[in-house]
Amino acid sequence: MIEVSAPGKLYIAGEYAVVEPGHPAIIVAIDQFISVSIEPAKKIGSIQSAQYSDLPIRWTRRKNELVLDIRDNPFHYILAAIHFTEKFAQEKGKKLAFFDLKVTSELDNSNGRKYGLGSSGAVTVATVKALNVFYDLQLSQLELFKLATLAHLNVQGNGSCGDIAASCYGGWLAFSTFDHDWVLKRLEAEKLTTLIESTWPNLQIEPLQVPEDLRLLIGWTGSPASTSDLVDQVHQSRYDNSYENFLTDSKNCVDQMILGFKQNNVPLIQKMIRRNRQLLNQLTSLSNVSIETEELKRLNDLAEKYGGAAKSSGAGGGDCGIVIIDKRAGILPLMSSWEKAGITPLPLHVFHFREDTHES
Ligand code: PMV
Ligand code: MG
Repeated sequence: MIEVSAPGKLYIAGEYAVVEPGHPAIIVAIDQFISVSIEPAKKIGSIQSAQYSDLPIRWTRRKNELVLDIRDNPFHYILAAIHFTEKFAQEKGKKLAFFDLKVTSELDNSNGRKYGLGSSGAVTVATVKALNVFYDLQLSQLELFKLATLAHLNVQGNGSCGDIAASCYGGWLAFSTFDHDWVLKRLEAEKLTTLIESTWPNLQIEPLQVPEDLRLLIGWTGSPASTSDLVDQVHQSRYDNSYENFLTDSKNCVDQMILGFKQNNVPLIQKMIRRNRQLLNQLTSLSNVSIETEELKRLNDLAEKYGGAAKSSGAGGGDCGIVIIDKRAGILPLMSSWEKAGITPLPLHVFHFREDTHES
């Protein structure tokens, strides 16, 4: 039996701006995983996931039509991952076969409630990884990223794919997304293998060394949020001048933060976390989308009170907040103040693959 896994992720900085090519984000892989196992089958295959079987299928209405929102349903990511990887396998001359595929997830709790740790990205990566072994495709880390990205875009459409990079590469990453229109046009015009082998404009995946004195804390609000909905809503303000300013300011802020990593400068990283929090609050004013909810504000303000630099992580609207704090600072007072305020500290660590073969 083939068994593989892919880690979940957390955004540290650069959210929303990172959806536009050339605007960096910092992302970490965390040590909670989605695992996929594959066994050869005869004549009929199966896909099974205990975690997802009870998930409701969300729908909305457009005019008088009932429209399914497939973007939060992991099965669609699994199907897209199978579709693209098998297309790639066929182009490589492999013979397609039947299999039973099973998914288990540590990224959702037992009620299928999401922590916001990126289960759709991780399930896509884990499925491509399992098929990579099943069909002996020998994908590099970058090829794995590209295939998983095409599958993910096919379902979600509006994301940066930073979560996929974190799941493929592990550790701390500086990530800027590729030119999506260019890739989608090429996808229609040429072979998948050619597209996977070519250089994608603007894509940057750079592993970062983390300063020794830096400690990452994660707080969970307990309220789930839908990334794809929030990104859709923010995008309605895309033609506003202030949105352009937000993009430029976010890029400058994250570039400075990356410098902080390269110079082992925890205070500079903290300064830029606070700056990024301000910028995201400005984005809320201009788009009317609540990114830092009341709970996230409480989480951040308490962290600031005890010497940390804090902000919402990812799309916000619930899920998690992150804190960057000096390792020498005590964290127990903060932990108990969070618990009193209904914030759950998540005892997670950054995950590194043992043999990192970094490509960009
Ligand atoms: O909420 P999360 O952790 O899925 O992060 C979303 C980050 C965004 O920048 C808002 C969207 C994206 O795809 O990068
Ligand atoms: Mg989220």
